[in-house]
Amino acid sequence: MWKLEKKKALVTGGTKGIGRAVVIEFLELGAEVLFTARNEKDVKKLEAELEDEGYKATGVVSDAAIAEDREAIRNWVANHWGRLDILVNNAGINIRKKANDYSEEEFRKVVEVDLIAPFELSRILFPYLKNSGKASVINIASSAAIQDVGTGVPYAMSKSGLLQQTRSLAVEWAKEGIRVNAVSPWFIKTPLTDGYLQDEERMKSILNRTPIGRVGEPEEISAIASFLAMNKSSFITGQNIIADGGMSVKAL
Ligand SMILES: NC(=O)c1ccc[n+]([C@@H]2O[C@H](COP(=O)([O-])OP(=O)(O)OC[C@H]3O[C@@H](n4cnc5c(N)ncnc54)[C@H](OP(=O)(O)O)[C@@H]3O)[C@@H](O)[C@H]2O)c1
Repeated sequence: MWKLEKKKALVTGGTKGIGRAVVIEFLELGAEVLFTARNEKDVKKLEAELEDEGYKATGVVSDAAIAEDREAIRNWVANHWGRLDILVNNAGINIRKKANDYSEEEFRKVVEVDLIAPFELSRILFPYLKNSGKASVINIASSAAIQDVGTGVPYAMSKSGLLQQTRSLAVEWAKEGIRVNAVSPWFIKTPLTDGYLQDEERMKSILNRTPIGRVGEPEEISAIASFLAMNKSSFITGQNIIADGGMSVKAL
């Protein structure tokens, strides 16, 4: 059972960072993977790399925030698999500003990608998740869902909403054989945080705040996603697994 053989998995935002680590680990564990991202060159490059290694992976250029793109994903899943065992809502963006400095377009964009897209994608894929009989939805949230970590309000409130989305869908869909869980990372080394973590003073304050004394690696999140995707975690639903090097339990 420590495997994902015969599982059909969709990972949004699969070309970089955490999503890429999830795609690779799912494939290593035997799953068949469909991944998405907006940049066509990145999608094609990863798809070719994975094919060269003999994996069953398909990349689709798709923006999680666009309804027609989500519809195309649904059609792909319907036509190729007819069921979906694992959905990882990983695609996420951020724009860091003071609350009053966001334009309406900017703040709505963050909410659209980080909160609305996971709900819409989960809903349109519901029939295929149900067909699985043992499906697992994994939402990549954030430490920012629980504490203010200076991300800006739209990201924090979207991730916080994603946690409640996780709990409420877990309850509503439990009888359909669909588990829904979240993973909340603190700082992980990815292209999203690369520039932000370059600032030495900022990095020092992050490390001071983190008992384990370092930021995380994408593979430390993909390991949790893999566990939640497996039948081994079959009694876990509606939960949020925090991977933060102890940050959230440190007061002083
Ligand atoms: N890194 C951290 O410290 C950290 C901490 C807490 C939570 N998280 C969360 O973890 C998730 C992954 O973060 P990451 O650090 O791995 O980010 P990343 O390095 O920026 O990678 C994001 C991935 O998502 C894709 N993507 C972005 N917007 C998309 C959209 N609208 N539709 C489809 N794909 C999209 C990107 O490719 P394209 O640009 O080509 O679309 C890329 O493949 C996010 O939800 C993020 O909020 C990250």
